[in-house]
Amino acid sequence: MTQTIRIHDHAHDEDGDRVCMSRRQFLLSGGVVVTLAALPGFAQAQALKAGFKKQKIAKLSALKVGEPVAFNYPFADVRNILVKLGTPGGGGVGAGKDVVAFNQQCTHMGGPLDGTYKAQHQALGPCPLHLTTFDLTKHGMVITGHATESLPQIVLEVQGDDIYATGVMGLVYGHASNGKA
Ligand code: FES
Repeated sequence: MTQTIRIHDHAHDEDGDRVCMSRRQFLLSGGVVVTLAALPGFAQAQALKAGFKKQKIAKLSALKVGEPVAFNYPFADVRNILVKLGTPGGGGVGAGKDVVAFNQQCTHMGGPLDGTYKAQHQALGPCPLHLTTFDLTKHGMVITGHATESLPQIVLEVQGDDIYATGVMGLVYGHASNGKA
Protein backbone atom coordinates (compact mmCIF):
# COMPACT_ATOMS: atom_id res chain seq x y z
CA MET A 1 0.00 0.00 0.00
CA THR A 2 1.32 3.43 -0.86
CA GLN A 3 1.09 6.15 1.79
CA THR A 4 0.91 9.76 0.78
CA ILE A 5 2.05 12.60 3.02
CA ARG A 6 0.22 15.84 2.33
CA ILE A 7 1.80 19.07 3.46
CA HIS A 8 0.08 22.44 3.13
CA ASP A 9 0.91 25.79 4.60
CA HIS A 10 -2.67 26.79 5.38
CA ALA A 11 -4.66 23.60 5.90
CA HIS A 12 -7.30 23.56 8.66
CA ASP A 13 -9.53 20.86 10.14
CA GLU A 14 -13.30 21.10 10.51
CA ASP A 15 -13.00 23.10 13.74
CA GLY A 16 -10.80 25.62 12.04
CA ASP A 17 -7.63 24.60 13.89
CA ARG A 18 -4.45 24.44 11.91
CA VAL A 19 -3.53 20.78 11.53
CA CYS A 20 -0.75 20.74 8.96
CA MET A 21 2.73 22.16 9.18
CA SER A 22 4.74 23.88 6.52
CA ARG A 23 7.36 21.96 4.58
CA ARG A 24 10.05 23.84 6.51
CA GLN A 25 8.46 23.02 9.90
CA PHE A 26 8.12 19.39 8.85
CA LEU A 27 11.74 19.08 7.83
CA LEU A 28 12.88 20.65 11.08
CA SER A 29 10.65 18.42 13.20
CA GLY A 30 11.28 14.87 14.33
CA GLY A 31 8.61 13.76 11.87
CA VAL A 32 11.14 13.43 9.11
CA VAL A 33 13.12 10.93 11.17
CA VAL A 34 10.00 8.80 11.80
CA THR A 35 9.29 8.79 8.07
CA LEU A 36 12.84 7.88 7.07
CA ALA A 37 13.00 5.05 9.59
CA ALA A 38 10.59 3.07 7.42
CA LEU A 39 12.72 3.42 4.31
CA PRO A 40 15.31 0.93 3.05
CA GLY A 41 18.81 2.29 3.62
CA PHE A 42 17.93 4.29 6.72
CA ALA A 43 20.34 2.19 8.77
CA GLN A 44 23.11 3.38 6.43
CA ALA A 45 22.16 7.03 6.99
CA GLN A 46 22.28 6.56 10.76
CA ALA A 47 25.74 5.03 10.42
CA LEU A 48 27.02 8.41 9.22
CA LYS A 49 27.10 9.50 12.86
CA ALA A 50 30.43 8.15 13.97
CA GLY A 51 32.07 8.16 17.36
CA PHE A 52 35.78 8.87 17.67
CA LYS A 53 38.30 9.15 20.43
CA LYS A 54 37.34 11.97 22.77
CA GLN A 55 39.46 15.07 22.20
CA LYS A 56 39.57 18.17 24.41
CA ILE A 57 39.19 21.21 22.18
CA ALA A 58 38.50 24.29 24.32
CA LYS A 59 37.27 25.76 27.60
CA LEU A 60 33.72 27.06 27.85
CA SER A 61 34.79 30.07 29.90
CA ALA A 62 37.27 31.15 27.19
CA LEU A 63 34.69 31.36 24.38
CA LYS A 64 33.31 34.69 23.22
CA VAL A 65 30.09 35.02 21.20
CA GLY A 66 30.84 35.25 17.48
CA GLU A 67 34.55 34.44 17.77
CA PRO A 68 35.20 30.95 16.34
CA VAL A 69 38.04 28.72 17.48
CA ALA A 70 39.65 26.45 14.87
CA PHE A 71 40.56 22.83 15.62
CA ASN A 72 41.27 19.62 13.72
CA TYR A 73 39.20 16.49 14.42
CA PRO A 74 38.88 13.53 14.04
CA PHE A 75 41.86 13.46 11.65
CA ALA A 76 44.74 15.89 11.21
CA ASP A 77 43.44 17.05 7.80
CA VAL A 78 39.86 17.76 8.94
CA ARG A 79 39.45 21.44 9.79
CA ASN A 80 36.60 22.56 12.02
CA ILE A 81 35.37 25.54 13.97
CA LEU A 82 33.92 25.71 17.45
CA VAL A 83 31.70 28.74 17.92
CA LYS A 84 29.47 30.27 20.59
CA LEU A 85 26.47 31.40 18.55
CA GLY A 86 24.81 33.59 21.20
CA THR A 87 21.50 31.85 20.42
CA PRO A 88 20.55 28.18 20.93
CA GLY A 89 21.61 25.85 18.12
CA GLY A 90 20.78 22.23 17.25
CA GLY A 91 23.23 20.01 19.10
CA GLY A 92 24.49 22.99 21.09
CA VAL A 93 26.17 22.54 24.48
CA GLY A 94 26.82 24.87 27.41
CA ALA A 95 24.29 26.70 29.58
CA GLY A 96 22.76 28.48 26.59
CA LYS A 97 22.92 25.41 24.29
CA ASP A 98 24.67 27.75 21.89
CA VAL A 99 28.15 26.23 21.53
CA VAL A 100 28.41 24.20 18.32
CA ALA A 101 31.15 22.86 16.07
CA PHE A 102 31.24 22.16 12.34
CA ASN A 103 33.58 21.00 9.64
CA GLN A 104 34.94 23.80 7.44
CA GLN A 105 35.08 21.93 4.12
CA CYS A 106 32.10 22.71 1.88
CA THR A 107 29.94 19.65 1.16
CA HIS A 108 29.60 20.61 -2.52
CA MET A 109 33.19 20.31 -3.76
CA GLY A 110 35.25 20.83 -0.64
CA GLY A 111 35.68 24.59 -0.90
CA PRO A 112 37.43 26.16 2.11
CA LEU A 113 34.98 27.85 4.49
CA ASP A 114 37.75 28.99 6.83
CA GLY A 115 37.27 32.58 7.98
CA THR A 116 33.75 32.93 6.52
CA TYR A 117 31.71 32.79 9.76
CA LYS A 118 29.05 35.53 9.87
CA ALA A 119 28.20 36.16 13.52
CA GLN A 120 25.16 38.32 12.77
CA HIS A 121 23.48 35.41 10.94
CA GLN A 122 25.11 32.47 12.79
CA ALA A 123 26.07 31.22 9.31
CA LEU A 124 29.18 29.81 7.68
CA GLY A 125 29.89 31.00 4.15
CA PRO A 126 29.49 31.97 1.45
CA CYS A 127 31.85 29.32 0.10
CA PRO A 128 34.46 31.02 -2.13
CA LEU A 129 33.87 28.50 -4.95
CA HIS A 130 30.10 28.50 -5.58
CA LEU A 131 28.68 30.59 -2.72
CA THR A 132 26.93 28.00 -0.54
CA THR A 133 26.08 29.27 2.94
CA PHE A 134 25.24 27.04 5.92
CA ASP A 135 23.03 27.69 8.98
CA LEU A 136 24.92 26.76 12.15
CA THR A 137 21.77 27.03 14.32
CA LYS A 138 20.13 24.19 12.34
CA HIS A 139 22.73 21.43 12.19
CA GLY A 140 24.61 23.08 9.31
CA MET A 141 21.64 23.06 6.93
CA VAL A 142 22.17 24.73 3.54
CA ILE A 143 20.69 28.25 3.40
CA THR A 144 21.54 28.89 -0.23
CA GLY A 145 24.02 27.75 -2.88
CA HIS A 146 25.08 24.66 -4.83
CA ALA A 147 25.60 22.22 -1.94
CA THR A 148 22.77 19.82 -1.13
CA GLU A 149 24.20 18.29 2.06
CA SER A 150 24.42 19.88 5.49
CA LEU A 151 27.84 20.53 6.94
CA PRO A 152 29.15 17.68 9.10
CA GLN A 153 28.56 18.61 12.73
CA ILE A 154 31.07 17.72 15.40
CA VAL A 155 29.40 16.07 18.41
CA LEU A 156 30.35 17.90 21.62
CA GLU A 157 30.36 16.99 25.28
CA VAL A 158 31.00 19.23 28.28
CA GLN A 159 32.68 18.18 31.51
CA GLY A 160 33.05 21.03 33.95
CA ASP A 161 34.59 23.85 31.94
CA ASP A 162 36.11 21.55 29.31
CA ILE A 163 34.58 20.96 25.86
CA TYR A 164 35.33 17.66 24.15
CA ALA A 165 34.72 16.48 20.58
CA THR A 166 33.39 12.92 20.64
CA GLY A 167 32.12 12.20 17.13
CA VAL A 168 31.01 13.46 13.75
CA MET A 169 27.50 13.64 12.27
CA GLY A 170 27.79 13.45 8.49
CA LEU A 171 30.50 12.53 6.04
CA VAL A 172 33.44 14.92 5.79
CA TYR A 173 34.14 15.98 2.19
CA GLY A 174 36.89 13.91 0.57
CA HIS A 175 36.50 10.95 2.93
CA ALA A 176 34.91 7.75 1.68
CA SER A 177 33.91 6.80 5.18
CA ASN A 178 33.92 8.27 8.67
CA GLY A 179 35.81 5.28 9.91
CA LYS A 180 39.09 5.89 8.06
CA ALA A 181 41.47 8.76 7.45
S1 FES B 1 32.55 24.02 -3.28
FE1 FES B 1 31.35 25.23 -1.93
S2 FES B 1 29.65 25.80 -3.11
FE2 FES B 1 30.84 24.58 -4.46
